[in-house]
Amino acid sequence: DQKRYILAIESSCDDTSAAVMCNTKVLSNVVATQEIHKQYGGVVPELASRAHQQNIVPVVHQALAKANIDKKQLSAIAFTRGPGLMGSLLVGTSFAKSLALGLNIPLIEVNHMEAHILAHFIEDEGKEAPDFPFLALTISGGHTQIVKVDHYFNMQVLGETLDDAVGEAFDKSAKLMGLPYPGGPLVDKYAQQGNAKAFKFPKPKVDGLNFSFSGLKTSILYFLKRETEKNPDFVSQNINDICASVQHTILEILMEKLKMAVEQTGIKQIAIGGGVAANSGIRGKLKQAEADLGWKTYIPKFEYCTDNAAMIGIVGYLKYQAENFTDQSVAAKARYAI
Ligand code: KG4
Ligand code: ZN
Repeated sequence: DQKRYILAIESSCDDTSAAVMCNTKVLSNVVATQEIHKQYGGVVPELASRAHQQNIVPVVHQALAKANIDKKQLSAIAFTRGPGLMGSLLVGTSFAKSLALGLNIPLIEVNHMEAHILAHFIEDEGKEAPDFPFLALTISGGHTQIVKVDHYFNMQVLGETLDDAVGEAFDKSAKLMGLPYPGGPLVDKYAQQGNAKAFKFPKPKVDGLNFSFSGLKTSILYFLKRETEKNPDFVSQNINDICASVQHTILEILMEKLKMAVEQTGIKQIAIGGGVAANSGIRGKLKQAEADLGWKTYIPKFEYCTDNAAMIGIVGYLKYQAENFTDQSVAAKARYAI
């Protein structure tokens, strides 16, 4: 194949990212994470768009410099059109349109959720891409989806969250325990030293392959309130056990639905993506399912799991090959289904 260099831009939430791909290989993948949101305990959309404005030019320059590529060598510009925060998407979309116009090269729009899934096709040493068809489980602070993937651009959402995302469930539970944002990694850390059966939280009753996590947060809230009234030091004395029990409940919800999806489709290849894929508990459960149920599971390198432009770049390359370009009238889409 001829070498094609594609610049990719991701700005859907609170990370400003730019990547340069050479076909399916990543030459650079620069991510500017916005620290400003930490003090607010969650992403503040208005602040996110402002930070994107400040970050986008330096991040793109860095990505080109790291790849050692001049912008004149680029074959196309790929960008995240949605879903995401409108103000954030507008920054990347407008920037990508202007640059493509200025360089007079094709523009390629990318669906962020498809990109999380197609990140598995980034060429990476020691990593095998899943064969079609496979099931994708995308779990992050913003998304929770089970998708049946028949081919690159032939996929179907089988189930998704009706309220909070999995990462949100981790973060909100952590917040109730007084842990800093984002609390997911800390819950994971404490859980490893705790007893997962110490406390029991109810699981939601949701039909089919959809998820719900908001009830869990409420039951944790009441549980902690009840216990700290009896013992003000309850949380600090039991942090490991509380985290282990909360994580256990979340993972049981995920695994039950995943098992249902496997039964319904007969597909045993499972590809995981999104920031929550870093969770040691879910990794353990998947390993166990490989041994017990004959599943084959795939997890990309962590930097391709969390929001990043390389995953936009791989979709950009696949669309470039299909000559699937978009024109300058394209607009960002906050809600954008697969
Ligand atoms: O993909 P990501 O970086 O951003 C988006 O939300 O799109 O995912 C971040 C989410 C946060 O909710 C964070 O708490 C969660 O992933 N997370 C984890 C772990 N590492 C990150 N949750 C549980 N265990 C972890 N080890
Ligand atoms: Zn994402």
